[in-house]
Amino acid sequence: MKVNGTPMRTIWPVEAGKVVEIIDQTRLPHEFVTTQLTTRAEAAHAISAMLVRGAPLIGATAAYGMALAMAEDPSDANLKAAHEALYATRPTAVNLRWALEEMAVLLPGLAPAERAAAAWTRAGEICDEDVGLCESIGAHGLGLITDLYAKRGGTGVFNILTHCNAGWLATVDWGTAIAPIYKAHEAGIPIHVWVDETRPRNQGASLTAWELNSHGVPHTVIPDNAGGHLMQHGEVDMCIVGTDRTTRTGDVCNKIGTYLKALAAKDNGVPFYVALPGPTIDWTVRDGVKEIPIEQRDPAEVTRIWGKTDAGALEWVIITPEGSQAANHAFDVTPARLVTGLITERGVCPASEAGLSGLYPEKRT
Ligand code: MRU
Repeated sequence: MKVNGTPMRTIWPVEAGKVVEIIDQTRLPHEFVTTQLTTRAEAAHAISAMLVRGAPLIGATAAYGMALAMAEDPSDANLKAAHEALYATRPTAVNLRWALEEMAVLLPGLAPAERAAAAWTRAGEICDEDVGLCESIGAHGLGLITDLYAKRGGTGVFNILTHCNAGWLATVDWGTAIAPIYKAHEAGIPIHVWVDETRPRNQGASLTAWELNSHGVPHTVIPDNAGGHLMQHGEVDMCIVGTDRTTRTGDVCNKIGTYLKALAAKDNGVPFYVALPGPTIDWTVRDGVKEIPIEQRDPAEVTRIWGKTDAGALEWVIITPEGSQAANHAFDVTPARLVTGLITERGVCPASEAGLSGLYPEKRT
């Protein structure tokens, strides 16, 4: 996607085997800052401190982290240590494990001297593959939006509600939930997006709004608790969200608050779709509520908020009384029964084991 007219990805190689660059997403929307990663430790920090975030981009960054680790020390011992250190950065997005497993399949069989170059090449391929997967999700989602818009009479504005950021900033390019929106906007369907602010880190207000604004897609930021009211009043035609991990049975783990939107959508007959690439499916898990580890983040993300003052300074402010405790569960699980369908790079399917294994027959066993 373009930033000030220039096409960009969220992560890109600068010097083969040595330097990869990222957008520091903690500075958006107020500052556009990029930063270079040159060591495994810097890559791990970028993931855990959320300079990069979003399941596919976390996976891509971890892949480059392994390549940087192999440039530092290609020994078997470091292969294991780097895998463990990167794996420990964030627990919920399964693309992290997927990307590290790709490297774990590739690297041990190579001579140490060959590992850094091979890992660098594979990291680049993972990024290119992600762009292709996300663009296909966009094409399949466009078909869905076109049908729903036509069913609604094909006139007026088509309102889509989304939660958190599942746009190009969460992936290498295009995004998952937002890819169909970009495609529909380009196709001339008059889309308007309701953007949940997504407390506590405000990925909707800061990142999704920034993306849509940069791309000229009409949107309105709403407090997280407004979606139910809008659905009751016929102001939402469809919800599309992303996911950090979806089980083989179609349970969807995504940013905290997604479950409440799915409940409101069910109660109001609003179609609730989840967009995801293949590497976000965890084929080892059946029951998302019981089995997916939910990241618990620093309560300070709840008790404080970051923004720009009227005078233009970027500041943190405290919003809770001293002495109040805060809890920060970063994700929740929406059971498959509340999900109208899954939009993948291979097509749209029901959120069920039969639906997913119909699209991914190689994963049936
Ligand atoms: O904590 P984050 O910002 O990494 O979480 C990202 C999300 O939960 C997004 O909603 C997204 O849909 C998953 S990644 C496409």
